[in-house]
Amino acid sequence: MATALTAREFRNALGQFATGVTVVTVEREPGSVFGMTANAFTSVSLNPMLILVCVDERAKILPLLDKHKRVGISVLKQDQQALSEYFAQAEQNAEAEHRLALRYRWTTEGVPVLEDTVVQLSCSVMTAHVAGDHTIIVGKVEDAEIRGGEPLLFFRGEYRHIGRQ
Ligand SMILES: Cc1cc2nc3c(=O)[nH]c(=O)nc-3n(C[C@H](O)[C@H](O)[C@H](O)COP(=O)(O)O)c2cc1C
Repeated sequence: MATALTAREFRNALGQFATGVTVVTVEREPGSVFGMTANAFTSVSLNPMLILVCVDERAKILPLLDKHKRVGISVLKQDQQALSEYFAQAEQNAEAEHRLALRYRWTTEGVPVLEDTVVQLSCSVMTAHVAGDHTIIVGKVEDAEIRGGEPLLFFRGEYRHIGRQ
């Protein structure tokens, strides 16, 4: 009989799937932004235009998403690993953001996104489905700005860059 899959084996297995790295952003207070690094992001539907992102039930961003029902998704560039690390930790403040030269842009829909990233999506939260210890946030994409550049990748628990043939 096969032995049960452990949590570590599960993580290792899923880590074989290479992804990009996004920062999910939401308004914290008027004019200020809270962000979370997420790679559990995918497109869902073309008509309507939907995406999803899976958020840990303990993540601080979850109640903000529930409150504001608007979310920005910014895809990081390959030289933005420091931003990925910054948005993966709880302490976020204006001083650190100044040091990292972070710039937010507010879309016409009133959604904060991160400037100088590969692509920036402005979304409204359509539905949220609890799935195990995460919540699947389904967002309707209202606007997309492609800025270009090479993306940061995440593979087997490490950051990577796209190589050329
Ligand atoms: C590369 C990378 C990808 C991540 N992807 C996700 C994700 O898809 N969903 C999620 O909930 N957390 C993800 N995390 C973890 C969160 O960024 C991190 O736990 C969270 O920001 C911590 O915030 P908290 O203080 O609100 O818990 C990821 C972290 C990294 C470094």
